[in-house]
Amino acid sequence: MKVSLVTGANRGIGLELVKRLASVSDPDGDNIIIACSRSTSKELEEVLLIPSVHHVTMDISSQESVDEAHEKISSIIGDKGINLLVNNAAILIKSDCPTSTSTEDISKNFDVNVVGTHRVTLKFAPLLFKAADQNSSADLGSKRAFCLNVSSAVGSITNTTSPWHSAYRISKAALNMLTRTTALEFIEKGVLCCSVHPGWVQTRMGGPDALISTSSCVDDLMEVIEKANKEHSGVMLRNKMEAPGTNLKFMNKIIRSYTLMASIRSNLASIKEEIGSKANCDHVRLVAVSKTKPISDIEAAYEAGQRVFGENYINEMVEKSHALVHLSEIKWHFIGNLQKKNCPKLTTCKNLSVVETVDSEKVAKALNNGWKRNGDGNKLNIFIQVNTSKEEQKSGCMPEKTVSLANFVKSECDVLNLKGVMTIGAFGYDWSQGDNPDFLELLKCHKELTEHFNEDFEISMGMSDDFGKAIEMGSTNVRVGSKIFGARN
Ligand SMILES: NC(=O)c1ccc[n+]([C@@H]2O[C@H](COP(=O)([O-])OP(=O)(O)OC[C@H]3O[C@@H](n4cnc5c(N)ncnc54)[C@H](OP(=O)(O)O)[C@@H]3O)[C@@H](O)[C@H]2O)c1
Repeated sequence: MKVSLVTGANRGIGLELVKRLASVSDPDGDNIIIACSRSTSKELEEVLLIPSVHHVTMDISSQESVDEAHEKISSIIGDKGINLLVNNAAILIKSDCPTSTSTEDISKNFDVNVVGTHRVTLKFAPLLFKAADQNSSADLGSKRAFCLNVSSAVGSITNTTSPWHSAYRISKAALNMLTRTTALEFIEKGVLCCSVHPGWVQTRMGGPDALISTSSCVDDLMEVIEKANKEHSGVMLRNKMEAPGTNLKFMNKIIRSYTLMASIRSNLASIKEEIGSKANCDHVRLVAVSKTKPISDIEAAYEAGQRVFGENYINEMVEKSHALVHLSEIKWHFIGNLQKKNCPKLTTCKNLSVVETVDSEKVAKALNNGWKRNGDGNKLNIFIQVNTSKEEQKSGCMPEKTVSLANFVKSECDVLNLKGVMTIGAFGYDWSQGDNPDFLELLKCHKELTEHFNEDFEISMGMSDDFGKAIEMGSTNVRVGSKIFGARN
C-alpha cells in the first residue's frame, strides 16, 4: 500500500488506525499516510512526528474544506493516486425513537455521515481510479485501490429491533446503500468499495462500556484492509458473533463468514445454471435444503436470491421460520419424515409453502386439521411421498397406493392442495447402470395420477448428487443441500 487517507483521524478508531498504518509502513519506502481531521489532538500531534504521516485539515461537512484538503493532498502525493480511503469520520447525535427525534437531528447525522462521506468519495474518486490504473496488475483490494466506509450494524434494516438512536441509524442505513451503489460503479474501475461494522468500541462515540478497545478493533480492521477482495464488493463486513463479555477475534469470523457467503452465492449460481441447461420445462424449483445449517447461511442464500428452503426436522423448521419471518418472500418446504402426532406443530411454521412428505391418510387428515386451525387462509400444498424403493425403513406410501391416497386428499382434505409426488429413493445409486429405477417408478406414479385426474402434477426427485439427471428425467422440484451449503457436520 502506498497512499492511505483516513478521515476523522484525531481520536477514536481513526486515530488508532493512522497509528497502525504508520507502524506497519516501511520507513524507507514511499508510503504516505494522510490523517485528516477538523483539529489536531495531542495524541495526533505525537503521531504526526512520524515522517510518513501528514496532517490535512478537513471538515467533511464543508465543500470548501474538502476542496482545500484535496489541493493540499495533491501537493503531498504528487502524481500518485490514493490506494486506501477510509471514510471513518462520523457523528452520533443522541436521539430516541423517530417521533421524539427532531428533523434537525436527522439532518445533522445525515449531513456528516452520508452527505459528508459522499462528498469526500466524490472528490477523491479520481485519485482512487488513478491508483487502480497505476496498480492494474494487483488484485482488487488495498494493494490496488480500496474505499472503506466505516458503518455500523445498527444501520442494518433487517436486524433492527429497537428504535433508539434513530437519527444515527437512519444515516448509517443510507451510508450502507451509498456503499453498495458506489461499489457497483467502482468495481468497473478497479476500485473495491465496501463497508465495515467495527464492533462496539471504547471511543467517545462508543462510550466506556463498549466491548472492545480501539487497539483490538484496529487489529481486525487491518485484517479487513489486507484481506478484503472482490467477493466483498458492496458488502457490509460485520461481526454477528459479538456478545457481551467475549473478546472475539471478530474480523476473522467476519472474513470466514463472508467467504462462506461468497461460496453459497457461487454454488447457487452454478446450480441454477445447471438446472437451466437440463430443464425441458418452463420452471424447475430449487429447494435449498438447510437442515442443521445456521440462520446466517439461510440469510446468505436469501440475499443471493434463493427463496425456497427445505427442512427435515419440524422443531428446527418452525424455529427457523419464526426467526426469519422478516424475509418476506421466503417459502418453506417440509421434506422430512412426518407422523400424525407432529402435524399440528408443523402447521405453526411461518410461510409454510409445501409439505412434501404426506404418505398416509391419517397424516393427510391430521395436517388438514392442523392447517384449518393454524393456516393462513390459503390451501396448503402437499406432495405425496412414494416409497419407490419399497425399503421397509423408508417413509412413503407404496407406489400402487398413490392414486387412492390422492383420492382421499382430494375428497376428504378440504384445505390441502395436492401438488405432486415425491421420492427420496435408494441412496448411492450407480448411474452407470442406466436411469435410476426409483425415479422411473415415481414417473409411473405421476403418469397414473395425471391420467386419473386429468391434471398436471409436479415431480419432486433429485438431490445434490443427482439433481441434474433427475431434471433430465422430468423432475420439476429438486432438493439440494450440501452442494449449496457444504457438507453437514
Ligand atoms: N465506537 C463504536 O462503538 C462504533 C460502533 C459502530 C460504528 N462506529 C463508527 O466508527 C467510526 C469512528 O467512530 P469512533 O467510535 O472513533 O467515534 P469518535 O471517537 O466520536 O470519532 C469520530 C471522529 O469523526 C470526526 N468527525 C465528526 N464530524 C466530522 C466532520 N464534520 N468532519 C471531519 N471529521 C468529523 C471526529 O472529529 P472531531 O474530533 O473533530 O469531532 C472524530 O475524529 C464512525 O464512522 C462510527 O460511526 C463506531
